[in-house]
Amino acid sequence: MTQPPLLDVKGFGLEFRTRSGTVRALEGIDLELHKGEIVGLVGESGSGKSVLSYAMLGISDAAARVTGGSAVFGGIDLLQAGESTLADLRGREISMIFQSPRTALNPIRPVGLQIEDVLRRHAVATRGRTGPDQALGLRERAVQALRDVAIADPERRWSAYPFELSGGMCQRVMIAIALACRPSLLIADEPTTGLDVTTQAAVMDLITGLARERQMATLFITHDLALAADHCDRIVVMHAGHAVESAPTRRLFGAPRHPYTARLMSSTPGPQGSIALLQPVPGALPDLRRTDLPACRFSERCERASERCRRERPPLPATEHAVACWHPLEPAHA
Ligand SMILES: Nc1ncnc2c1ncn2[C@@H]1O[C@H](COP(=O)(O)OP(=O)(O)OP(=O)(O)O)[C@@H](O)[C@H]1O
Ligand SMILES: [Mg+2]
Repeated sequence: MTQPPLLDVKGFGLEFRTRSGTVRALEGIDLELHKGEIVGLVGESGSGKSVLSYAMLGISDAAARVTGGSAVFGGIDLLQAGESTLADLRGREISMIFQSPRTALNPIRPVGLQIEDVLRRHAVATRGRTGPDQALGLRERAVQALRDVAIADPERRWSAYPFELSGGMCQRVMIAIALACRPSLLIADEPTTGLDVTTQAAVMDLITGLARERQMATLFITHDLALAADHCDRIVVMHAGHAVESAPTRRLFGAPRHPYTARLMSSTPGPQGSIALLQPVPGALPDLRRTDLPACRFSERCERASERCRRERPPLPATEHAVACWHPLEPAHA
């Protein structure tokens, strides 16, 4: 891609100071997101998917400390930006959708008003923006936002309270809130966990459909490889605070090159290259408080590891199918 990335993360490191030691949660993370691109961030629980996105937006607790790197978005380094800059960007230029929508919504406020709250908060900032709905009043824009997420009878639903709506419907409201100001970057952290399978697919179709229509870059964090495979253009695999492989979705599933990625996927792909679910990987993630972590944090779980892996961290090159490994699996033969 020739355009500069919308989000350009380089060498991002983050640690948490805790009573039992320093947790080296992220180390030297490189990640690019281009306009309109849908990127899946996958990896086992504890690999750092959530802290990566929260820390970029300045949402992390007092124990967190950025140890290095940059995360440039629209010319601004998010890791250096002050809280007022980040607060202005959040919800307007960069939005997030979390798991468990019901608890994220205010239980005692009609959902339509909750959408209006976001529109009002960013009213000054979005005034100059062109769009078909700019001439509308707040209420009409909130109704339109509900219509955009395919909520039937949006005029009536405007006044519904969260408890009156199903889980899937609440998640649609969260999406409406997140997208109301037409952000250029959406971070969706396990947005469909807890929903039944049919609703999951519908919610994912909705998010990716709107992302494509609006050319919105989307970082989709998930445990579910099948969901990522169906909806993402590219996938970045994380292990123990490192990004270990990045590739266009088909290439990654067709021929994973990092031993960790290969183990996450089923070893026996189904017919027509159908996608397997995330498999448990033998061995545990290393304790990130250890002071003697090996350079490649997967090396202790890896049958291909050599002495070099323990001493020298393999870089993740800036190539289309990038793998951070000294002994990667062979590229696929056509
Ligand atoms: N506030 C904190 N204090 C100390 N350690 C933390 C804190 N928040 C996260 N961590 C640690 O940072 C690492 C990454 O956590 P993170 O929540 O990003 O994982 P994840 O990949 O999102 O996992 P999951 O799939 O379970 O959501 C973990 O080792 C976790 O224990
Ligand atoms: Mg998480």
